[in-house]
Amino acid sequence: MKPTAKMIPLALVGLVVTGVVGFITIVLLMSWFSNPPFGLGNAPPQPIAFPHTVHAGSVETGGVGIQCEFCHRNVTKGAAATVPSVETCVFCHKQINPENLTGTTTVNLTEVQRVVDRFADGNPIDWERVHRLPDHVRFVHEAHIRFLTQGEPRMVDIPMGSGGSRQLPMPLAQACSVCHGDVAAMTEVQPQAGQSLKMGTCLDCHRQNNVATDCTICHK
Ligand code: HEC
Ligand code: HEC
Ligand code: HEC
Ligand code: HEC
Ligand code: HEC
Repeated sequence: MKPTAKMIPLALVGLVVTGVVGFITIVLLMSWFSNPPFGLGNAPPQPIAFPHTVHAGSVETGGVGIQCEFCHRNVTKGAAATVPSVETCVFCHKQINPENLTGTTTVNLTEVQRVVDRFADGNPIDWERVHRLPDHVRFVHEAHIRFLTQGEPRMVDIPMGSGGSRQLPMPLAQACSVCHGDVAAMTEVQPQAGQSLKMGTCLDCHRQNNVATDCTICHK
């Protein structure tokens, strides 16, 4: 068949359709194997703008330098790391609040006041979950933290981030960043900033470290 001028719009439509379908396929593949692009997998905004930078960031970087486990108290002990209750916040914010911080300050006093108000009202802060595995999957922080932070000095292949050999044992805060990225440098924790926590990632690390990979270890 000889190409005619009429076929040009058709060819254009074909190109556009191919482009759109290709784009959707790429987004779906990324979401399936890794984290969705363009912030599609982001957590909804938190009820209070709590910056990890300010609290967990080192004193040299302008933070308070609070240890991760001061707030995530169960992380070395059990399955869930746990998110702190408002009582933990008020431990400091009964002093560090608009009433006491007079004069010029760079601290976001509106947000701090909301923390103090929540405590006074007795209302918990309903933090939005950032990382959540489906209900059929079991994950235990304690076992992973023990593996990364304890034992004899050794080099271990960890298939996360840029991958490669890592020196174990490592400090606790560094252990968190293996899976969550550098949270201390995040104003807002988002899964994209860390490692995708898909089954493939779990399996790769289990295989490389001779941990069982039976379905029943991770699936209830
Ligand atoms: C002063 C208390 C405090 C400290 C210190 C702290 N966190 Fe958090 N963390 C929170 C709160 C509150 C949330 C829930 C709100 C949010 O997601 O930002 C949270 C959320 C998180 C989440 C996301 C949880 C989810 O829903 O999936 C991770 C991961 C995390 N923190 C890791 C760390 C690491 C790693 C450190 C140390 C470098 C640390 N945190 C230090 C209070 C703290
Ligand atoms: C160990 C003490 C300590 C604890 C515990 C603590 N904070 Fe803070 N927080 C501080 C200090 C100190 C500042 C002010 C930092 C500065 O000078 O910039 C601050 C600042 C803030 C700010 C203002 C941030 C900004 O952008 O200026 C918010 C909001 C806040 N905290 C919320 C919380 C919440 C919510 C919790 C509990 C999950 C919490 N804090 C627990 C010490 C603490
Ligand atoms: C081996 C990977 C891995 C490491 C290392 C790790 N986490 Fe997690 N974390 C996860 C996974 C997976 C989830 C989601 C669990 C779920 O939904 O059941 C999670 C969820 C969380 C949560 C929210 C839910 C909860 O458990 O309360 C917090 C907070 C958290 N991690 C903090 C930390 C901190 C702090 C450290 C370092 C001390 C750390 N994690 C180290 C993989 C990891
Ligand atoms: C950095 C490497 C690494 C990654 C990533 C990892 N694991 Fe593990 N996991 C281990 C090691 C090592 C152990 C064995 C720890 C021990 O000696 O008890 C383990 C043990 C476990 C256990 C048994 C814990 C117990 O005490 O019953 C479960 C369940 C588990 N992992 C689930 C997961 C899931 C789900 C993921 C992905 C979200 C994951 N793991 C990612 C290294 C890893
Ligand atoms: C080391 C932990 C681990 C082991 C072992 C494991 N899984 Fe999974 N699996 C996960 C995690 C984490 C998810 C949820 C995240 C995701 O979808 O990738 C998951 C999701 C799934 C899903 C749902 C797929 C989806 O995308 O929702 C199926 C089906 C599944 N696993 C089957 C299996 C079978 C069959 C085995 C044994 C051959 C197995 N898994 C072994 C961690 C594991």
